[in-house]
Amino acid sequence: MTSGPFFFCIFIIGKYFTHGNAQDISCPLGSFPCGNITKCLPQLLHCNGVDDCGNQADESNCGDNNGWSLQFDDYIAKYYKLTSTKPSKAETSKCLVGSVPMHCLCRDLELACDGANLRAVPSVPSNVTLMSLQRNFIRTLPPNGFRKYHQLQTLFLQSNKIRSVSVFAFRGLRNLTKLYLSNNRITFLKPGVFEDLHRLEWLIIEDNHLSRISPLTFYGLNSLILLVLMNNALTHLPDKSLCQHMPGLKWLDFENNHIHNLRNLTFISCNNLTVLVMRKNKINHLSEHAFTHLQKLSELDLGSNRIESLPPNIFKNLKELSQLNISYNPIQKIPVNQFDYLAKLKSLSLEGIEITNIQQRMFRPLMNLSHIYFKKFQYCGYAPHVRSCKPNTDGISSLDNLLASIIQRVFVWVVSAITCFGNIFVICMRPYIRSENKLHAMSIISLCCADCLMGVYLFVIGAFDLKFRGEYNKHAQPWMESVHCQFMGSLAILSTEVSVLLLTFLTLEKYICIVYPFRCLRPRKCRTITVLIFIWTIGFIVAFAPLSNKEFFKNYYGTNGVCFPLHSEDSGAIGAQIYSVVIFLDTITSWVVIFILPINSALNPIIYTLTTRPFKEMIHQLWYNYRQRRSGDIKGIQKAYAPSFIWVEMWPLQEMPTEFMKPAVFTDPCDLSLVSQSSRLNSYS
Ligand SMILES: *[C@@H]1O[C@H](CO)[C@@H](O)[C@H](O)[C@H]1NC(C)=O
Ligand SMILES: *[C@@H]1O[C@H](CO)[C@@H](O)[C@H](O)[C@H]1NC(C)=O
Ligand SMILES: *[C@@H]1O[C@H](CO)[C@@H](O)[C@H](O)[C@H]1NC(C)=O
Ligand SMILES: *[C@@H]1O[C@H](CO)[C@@H](O)[C@H](O)[C@H]1NC(C)=O
Ligand SMILES: *[C@@H]1O[C@H](CO)[C@@H](O)[C@H](O)[C@H]1NC(C)=O
Ligand SMILES: *[C@@H]1O[C@H](CO)[C@@H](O)[C@H](O)[C@H]1NC(C)=O
Ligand SMILES: *[C@@H]1O[C@H](CO)[C@@H](O)[C@H](O)[C@H]1NC(C)=O
Repeated sequence: MTSGPFFFCIFIIGKYFTHGNAQDISCPLGSFPCGNITKCLPQLLHCNGVDDCGNQADESNCGDNNGWSLQFDDYIAKYYKLTSTKPSKAETSKCLVGSVPMHCLCRDLELACDGANLRAVPSVPSNVTLMSLQRNFIRTLPPNGFRKYHQLQTLFLQSNKIRSVSVFAFRGLRNLTKLYLSNNRITFLKPGVFEDLHRLEWLIIEDNHLSRISPLTFYGLNSLILLVLMNNALTHLPDKSLCQHMPGLKWLDFENNHIHNLRNLTFISCNNLTVLVMRKNKINHLSEHAFTHLQKLSELDLGSNRIESLPPNIFKNLKELSQLNISYNPIQKIPVNQFDYLAKLKSLSLEGIEITNIQQRMFRPLMNLSHIYFKKFQYCGYAPHVRSCKPNTDGISSLDNLLASIIQRVFVWVVSAITCFGNIFVICMRPYIRSENKLHAMSIISLCCADCLMGVYLFVIGAFDLKFRGEYNKHAQPWMESVHCQFMGSLAILSTEVSVLLLTFLTLEKYICIVYPFRCLRPRKCRTITVLIFIWTIGFIVAFAPLSNKEFFKNYYGTNGVCFPLHSEDSGAIGAQIYSVVIFLDTITSWVVIFILPINSALNPIIYTLTTRPFKEMIHQLWYNYRQRRSGDIKGIQKAYAPSFIWVEMWPLQEMPTEFMKPAVFTDPCDLSLVSQSSRLNSYS
């Protein structure tokens, strides 16, 4: 992981020098410029924690604080901090309110009665400017309860048990600018309840049970800027101008309600709205003109809804939009010109959306886009001009490489070489092992052939990794949909399946020999051949079935760069997933493909041939003959012993001295199987 970027740097620096000193800072697609110096880096290196540019340009502007949500969050956080530190400061500041109820803290003209077990709004001198009544047991807000507090600017009523709010409850609060009613049990607010609050700027009614609102609910709130109705039970918004009485509203938050559609007229007079949050609702229908009048909108969050299709011109008038989030909606298809009018968009979230018709044309008009979020990292290749694209890996591949980590890259070649060489070697050697049961040999050669396919598969994956090195994101999608990829995936599955079945067969055969030694007559030729054909047929069927039915399996093998079906998190095709589970009875991680399965293939020739006694004895015989000849030639006894010692070191055998001189010939297949089984056990221990 850490060495990956290092190689990239070398690669890029090389590229940079070969291209000479180009004067223009316009970078090729898929890369971004390093501030004011003439250097381009691939998307991948943006914000990776390493100063790849040398002037920190690639590590700046990493956070996605488009829209003004973040700044505002900061503002609110600061505000809360300010008010919550009040009690500690109360001791140092003088109280100017005069008489103060029990359990209340006072500073200047501010009063805090938090957690004071109050059951009703207390009566305090009328010159207070801030009153905090959080975490009490207030149940109702009676008429004219606050009437005398003309100076009151901030009123905290969070975390009480307020259920009923009189229509006259807030009368007289003409100087109130901030009202917090969060975490109560309000189900309904009568029209005109805020009539006197002409100066109110913030109205926060989070975590209540509000089920309906109408434009008249907000009558009188001429100065309102922020309205938060998060976590309520609203099922629909009025199809009348919601902002009719709140012309200055800038921030409207409906997160986590049950709203199911957005109609033409709801936001018609919300001319000054900048942020609209509708995240986590149940919106399944959007009228084409729902957002037409929101010309100043800079952030629109429609994430986690049930939108299946976007009307073609839904975003047409949002000229100022800088952040758009439509993540986690069951959107089927995005028209190629959907985002054409969003010239100022800086951040676009499309997480959790399968974009089947994805193409570069979709994102090309978004010239100022700097952050984009997708479901799959391969999609990043279609937005090459965007500086930050996430996710940038799927665990196997990265934007630049088919095999992201250097370990995988090296291993794929090493294992491929060992597997191919070992298995081919064994296939060639087997016929020369004379004391071998022919049918057993046939099974082993069959096994080697199957394992060899795994070597071929790895070799091809390694080759394509080399071919795509440094620009994988351009080729990812075509590669995964290609016939090569499908075929290679089938080969890998064929190899795995046949290998596993053959091993099972061999083990069973030996088991029967050991447990029922007398029944173990010479295995009939016919039976063995039938079983082998049967196993290969099953392998072929299992491996190639997913290619037969595209409807059911979708792109079964092309879910990742190594073309091996790892359907762990991809919920695309349920049929394919079930198929995978049936075959593997478990989820397999990417490392299994590159490590465990090939290791099996690489080890099989060693276990089944190189460690068996007949093979060793054949080698000994050869060596013995050679030594005999040599000692005969040179007549040096000392020299003859030295290499023999090395031989023993390199090929440790159990009963070397006695067995060495008399090569045994096994004719009984059971004997042979028993011996190879024991030598296999030895090789494990
Ligand atoms: C790039 O800008 C930085 C300040 O942002 C300045 O210190 C530096 O000299 C500039 N480099 C070039 C090559 O213009
Ligand atoms: C606020 O009102 C109380 C009671 O009426 C009074 O004692 C106090 O002096 C007043 N404070 C100021 C600053 O006017
Ligand atoms: C609002 O408060 C100011 C002082 O802060 C006061 O002069 C003014 O009369 C108050 N307005 C109303 C309508 O009570
Ligand atoms: C809201 O927008 C209108 C024009 O659409 C403008 O006249 C008015 O001043 C704005 N109000 C605020 C508080 O910005
Ligand atoms: C929204 O307005 C358009 C045109 O103004 C109209 O065709 C459509 O029926 C309206 N939709 C609703 C739900 O009123
Ligand atoms: C977009 O919305 C989803 C779900 O509502 C959320 O998980 C994600 O963080 C949002 N993305 C941005 C950039 O805010
Ligand atoms: C893109 O951003 C740059 C600087 O942030 C600005 O000058 C330019 O006008 C923007 N382009 C569009 C189409 O808004």
